[in-house]
Amino acid sequence: MYFDYYELKRPPFRVTPEINSFYTGADRGATLRALMYSISHGDAIVKLVGEVGSGKTMICRMLELKLPDNIDIVYLGNPRLSPDNILQAIAFELEIPISNHESASRIMMLKSLQEHLLNKHMQGRQVVVFVEEAQCMPLETLEEIRLLSNLETQQSKLLQVVLFGQPELDYNLSSNHVRQIKDRISNSFYLPSLNKNDVSDYLQFKLYTAGYKGQHLFTRSAVNYIFKASKGLMRRINILADKALLAAYTQGSPIVTKKHISSAVMDSDFITKKQKLGSIFISSAAALALVVIMAIFIHTFSDKQADVAEKTLPIKMLKHTPGSLGLNNLKNANPNVEAILEERYKNTKKWIKQVSLSNFSIQVLLIDADSPDRLNYFFNQEGITDIMQHLYIVVLHVNGKKKLGVLYKDFSTFTDAQRALKNLPGTLRQHGPSIRYLKTVLTESFSTADSSRRD
Ligand SMILES: Nc1ncnc2c1ncn2[C@@H]1O[C@H](COP(=O)(O)OP(=O)(O)OP(=O)(O)O)[C@@H](O)[C@H]1O
Ligand SMILES: [Mg+2]
Repeated sequence: MYFDYYELKRPPFRVTPEINSFYTGADRGATLRALMYSISHGDAIVKLVGEVGSGKTMICRMLELKLPDNIDIVYLGNPRLSPDNILQAIAFELEIPISNHESASRIMMLKSLQEHLLNKHMQGRQVVVFVEEAQCMPLETLEEIRLLSNLETQQSKLLQVVLFGQPELDYNLSSNHVRQIKDRISNSFYLPSLNKNDVSDYLQFKLYTAGYKGQHLFTRSAVNYIFKASKGLMRRINILADKALLAAYTQGSPIVTKKHISSAVMDSDFITKKQKLGSIFISSAAALALVVIMAIFIHTFSDKQADVAEKTLPIKMLKHTPGSLGLNNLKNANPNVEAILEERYKNTKKWIKQVSLSNFSIQVLLIDADSPDRLNYFFNQEGITDIMQHLYIVVLHVNGKKKLGVLYKDFSTFTDAQRALKNLPGTLRQHGPSIRYLKTVLTESFSTADSSRRD
């Protein structure tokens, strides 16, 4: 590989958090220190928010490494736990001797947990629960966490919590149901995206920690392009830098130029048309309709227009193969579903081109892409015609799963979206509507590309 050629001792741009090459710039070092202080001083609930791939898990790993030995960490990697399950998960991680968690009543489990935590406290130990991907945690479970953080002695909390999440966590926490947990958060931290100088600094840092001894391996315009294509998000920077180094190596180039970044971008599903046209197979009647729509879209737009759309469209283009469409599902489909979806999709495309990504929308339906009958049902509800023009269909990737989402209108402030949520027409209330940040919706469709590279 390219390591020898560039005199590197190891791969510089891996996409797994590597504690021996922790970059402290762009507030990462300061945030780590502040979190350590906050946890060590017994804060009940602390929160760290950052965009996808901005380095939250990395900070989590650094905390595990750096926090003093008297602090026990309970790491919850799966946030999709029910309130009861979270209690069981914590008990399990702490190896609390409850003979049969399944049958133990909640009160008994709470009692055992409290006894266990009191014991720890008397031994001078602290217990901190790390909740990763907290934006995916059900609101009731967040509320349960707040209740658990009530366990305390007169002086200190027995159970502390750190929530790690994408920006959507903040919006979830603004919900009235969990207002109390928001009030209980003692410290909130945010991981900003890297700016142009940071990106340059970060690349250099990563190269040096991998043993590189030369001068600037990436040209200035290469760095600028990485910055632009990655939006300053660290996972993307790593992916692009790694691919670009390989491209430069294959061409026998001693430096990495903009051209190499360009081929890395083409190969990385970032921004490129390739990303949107990547093969995604969904087996359904609605998929068939969407495929038809995509085909129309692809054929009726010039490359230039498609490029513009691509930069703004949070929709994965779908490509179908006949075998992938599960034609059996057609039997329940409304014969008009294609026409409806086509019309809505065209409008979605227009809407996305002009809407501000810092706006909010209300997600009124989210279904698995492979069971689209619900989409059919949704668009057949009584009263839907009146509000049809405000509904937008998007194909999303949520935690690696393909989903079809329906969004209702867009709002420039969260408060406006909240107001609209309260006054939502009845037909849109039935599937647990929630406020979504459009930028996050856009990121979701990227996150699959990213997650496929995660270890
Ligand atoms: N401070 C850092 N120093 C060095 N590398 C970093 C740092 N932060 C992030 N990275 C790199 O970026 C990658 C992505 O970071 P990480 O997995 O922590 O992001 P995340 O915010 O947890 O993403 P997600 O929202 O998808 O969970 C890491 O695997 C690591 O390679
Ligand atoms: Mg993470």
